[in-house]
Amino acid sequence: MDALGKVMDSVTEDLTSVSHYHELAAVYDFVLARRYDHDRMAAFVADELPDDASTICVGGSGPGRLLALLADRYDEVVGVDLSPAMCKIAAKRTDAEIVEADLLEYCEQERFDGYTLLGNSIAHLPAGNIQSFFETARTCLASGGVIAIDFTLTETLSNGHHRSDSFRSERYRVDRSVIVTIEDRNPEALGTPARYAYSYELTDEQTGETATTGTSVSVRAFDPPELLGAAIRAGFIEVWLVDPPTPHGGGLLARRR
Ligand SMILES: C[S@@+](CC[C@H](N)C(=O)[O-])C[C@H]1O[C@@H](n2cnc3c(N)ncnc32)[C@H](O)[C@@H]1O
Repeated sequence: MDALGKVMDSVTEDLTSVSHYHELAAVYDFVLARRYDHDRMAAFVADELPDDASTICVGGSGPGRLLALLADRYDEVVGVDLSPAMCKIAAKRTDAEIVEADLLEYCEQERFDGYTLLGNSIAHLPAGNIQSFFETARTCLASGGVIAIDFTLTETLSNGHHRSDSFRSERYRVDRSVIVTIEDRNPEALGTPARYAYSYELTDEQTGETATTGTSVSVRAFDPPELLGAAIRAGFIEVWLVDPPTPHGGGLLARRR
């Protein structure tokens, strides 16, 4: 049975115990493939990282679509992700090295010319740890190395906002809706913490079978000056904002000495 069919057989209507990055990993991969233009993301990385870069760390590599494309372009590419389910999907997609680890702890000193944290992965790092993430990432970068990050802009979050989207393959349709709840700001958040409550209806259009499930995830959106400040305090010498290749609105590049 294919990956989405397996999820349909196993999901429940319990909206609290499942996670995008575990039980719903195959659904997440399905949606991500249709929501992001990974070719554009890979081209963005090639444009923005140093021309002579050959060793790249892909932070929050998830199901490995960007990782696989970068592995085709660079000599040495390493994906790092906390979720065993995500790492398993990624390993089927690429022969690149994949490390199951927390980005806040993963550190190979001065190994990489480039570091990417794309697909809004920074939204999942705990408030209060963004500064230490930048410090760890800087330590991983070789001299002149650059980190590329995309993020959600605080101004684009709106409390109670509800959005629905449909994603299709030849056989399946995934109807996803998300409701945003903004949480209390605190100085450590560098922006606005929020919770996204997702619900999914999965339809096998061949058999007519449907399954519903959902999950909620804690995220954060950032104020660009706050994020720039965290990168500078972490020791990056040059930091600037760019248009990201993803729909999240914010993009940041930082270069180490
Ligand atoms: C939005 S997805 C990444 C999508 C992927 N970069 C892409 O563009 O296709 C976020 C990923 O970050 C991972 N993640 C979240 N917190 C993490 C952490 N502290 N350390 C490592 N990975 C983490 C999740 O498991 C998930 O796979």
